[in-house]
Amino acid sequence: MSQGSIEVYESEDRTFSPLADFAAVALAGDDSLYTEAEADFEAFWARQARALLDWHDDFHTTLEWDLPFAKWFVGGTLNVSHNCLDRHVNAGRGDKVAIHWEGEPGDTRTITYRELLADVQRFANALLKLGLRRGDRAAIYMPMIPELPVAMLACARIGVAHSVIFGGFSPDAITDRCEDAEAKLVITADAGYRRGAPSPLKPNVDSALAAGGPTVEHVIVVDRCGTDPAMTPGRDLWWADLMAESAPDCPAEPMDSEQLLYLLYTSGTTAKPKGIMHTTGGYLTQVCFTHKYVFDLRPDTDVFWCAADIGWVTGHSYIVYGPLANGCTSVMYEGTPDTPRPLFRGDDRGGWPKDRLWDIVERYGVTQLYTAPTAIRTFMKWGEEWPAGHDLSTLRVLGTVGEPINPEAWMWYHRHIGGERCPVVDTWWQTETGGHMISPLPGATVTKPGSATRPLPGIFAEVVDAGGAPVGAGGGGHLTVTRPWPSMLRGIWGDPDRYRQTYWSTYEGRYFAGDGARVDDDGYFWLLGRVDDVMNVSGHRISTTEVESALVDHSAVAEAAVVGAKDEITGQSIVGYVILVGKVEPSEELRQEIRAHVGVKLGPTARPKAVFIVPDLPKTRSGKIMRRLLRDVADGRDLGDTTTLADPGVVAEIRDRAAAADDED
Ligand code: WTA
Repeated sequence: MSQGSIEVYESEDRTFSPLADFAAVALAGDDSLYTEAEADFEAFWARQARALLDWHDDFHTTLEWDLPFAKWFVGGTLNVSHNCLDRHVNAGRGDKVAIHWEGEPGDTRTITYRELLADVQRFANALLKLGLRRGDRAAIYMPMIPELPVAMLACARIGVAHSVIFGGFSPDAITDRCEDAEAKLVITADAGYRRGAPSPLKPNVDSALAAGGPTVEHVIVVDRCGTDPAMTPGRDLWWADLMAESAPDCPAEPMDSEQLLYLLYTSGTTAKPKGIMHTTGGYLTQVCFTHKYVFDLRPDTDVFWCAADIGWVTGHSYIVYGPLANGCTSVMYEGTPDTPRPLFRGDDRGGWPKDRLWDIVERYGVTQLYTAPTAIRTFMKWGEEWPAGHDLSTLRVLGTVGEPINPEAWMWYHRHIGGERCPVVDTWWQTETGGHMISPLPGATVTKPGSATRPLPGIFAEVVDAGGAPVGAGGGGHLTVTRPWPSMLRGIWGDPDRYRQTYWSTYEGRYFAGDGARVDDDGYFWLLGRVDDVMNVSGHRISTTEVESALVDHSAVAEAAVVGAKDEITGQSIVGYVILVGKVEPSEELRQEIRAHVGVKLGPTARPKAVFIVPDLPKTRSGKIMRRLLRDVADGRDLGDTTTLADPGVVAEIRDRAAAADDED
């Protein structure tokens, strides 16, 4: 097959049976996990919590459920950083590698559990010296460097909740998040390497704090790229100076099981992102459990690699907390899969080599790789000769997350990365769920490409129709979770009503995930994507409303509507339709300027792929924008029923304009 072509497999019914080798490891003595959890899910999770974690004080009540508010492992105390670090060192595993880190330019660091613990203790002391205390919040805006997990674990050690802000976000996003959480501190770096050059971070923090965030007292800066950023005297402090002055020992304080561990902001259906709250005991239990079982972990020998960014929940749970709680060795990589570097194979195709990931898998002997369907589709496009040039035989399990995976991408991953030897685990979950919810267990589950299979042991999910009744085999509807789970969100920061309204009001007594799903004759779940106004671009959640607000923020734009169009690589891409104010004349430059404006407001991930200037927007007679029609236009589909429109002529005109304009990228 030549580079660039995509192999299409027959879409006949395919199943992949579990391999005995995996069953033996993952479920040794535990093959009754599903039945045990079915019989008494609280007892099941209580057993896992005690088996997987070190508790300072045992809990007396497994679950207090006052719908929709849950408390897990009530009365228990523990420390997340102790569970991720100290207990492994105390057990004689201090010299084990915790993180094989690789920077984008090719610099590397090997960090043992002992070294990581030492850094975390010093940094925790630095935080204490700056006056941070249990219950405070600290914002973290960093590249993928080892100081990022150090900062998170140091916060956890002393009970400060972190709020990690993805490094691709703009100053506005930093201001909003600092203000909403009333953060006392921002931890950042001068810049991080991105596609061969330093991408500035500290200047964004400066702009953000010039605009707001009055509670922020200090900014701690790691010197990653030597870009010599401006430092505000009294407020800004260098990481290295603080570490040098800091005392080495900082005991891990026992925290209540329900102590806030972190906030992670995610897009909802309004312009204001939600601060999703995760707490201590339940979160760590489920993340540790799922990391161990879903990836068939053999902690002594495995080299686990989650190729996500810690700015998203996937990185929180499966780069930092899960792998470290399980005491395994992980890989952490700073850059992108196609970073510029010299071609080391005789190759005359020019351009950047596209085998960075496969080179890393080979050099570190990676055993599990966890990535997103978007990335897999990109690798398909680049061609299978890139992975074929590397020895990937150490891989045992492949995982995907973030969006529905199309069966062709699943098969390609299975064949060209997994050598047809590795089970593929398609894991469905959300920022809100904290950890995996629906996923195969390697060795136990028959997989079908494109299906996340069944809820994990201890998780109870159902697909319901519009009236809230469970659909039978072959039915489709909305995905709901029917019982509380340990790593569930505990709420939306500062907004309990929105929490109840968003997740618990659509179907009585059920958590509404916002995803559509189908159930097949075997009871397998097939996820169909979001059913609300949330787009999923390369596995990143972006709300249509957020982008619409950024569009109308441009002085030439009067009104805007945004939809997610189908995209072969990124799953969805953002398409905006705008009406201009008064007498402003449409032009190609203006279209580009408006598009760029969103990139500045929200960061490059949210920049629309295309912006169309239109005379009007299709609205129902009650004034609601008909997004379905705009999606149809964006996808080039037939327009279907337009009879509810106030002015049916509008759509035809929009379609003609959209067809006339070229795609932007
Ligand atoms: C989607 C990422 C299909 C889904 C962990 C969900 C998936 C949203 C899958 C959460 C999957 C995640 N199959 N869809 N395996 N995994 N999703 O909060 O729409 O960034 O609601 O969490 O991603 O995205 P979030």
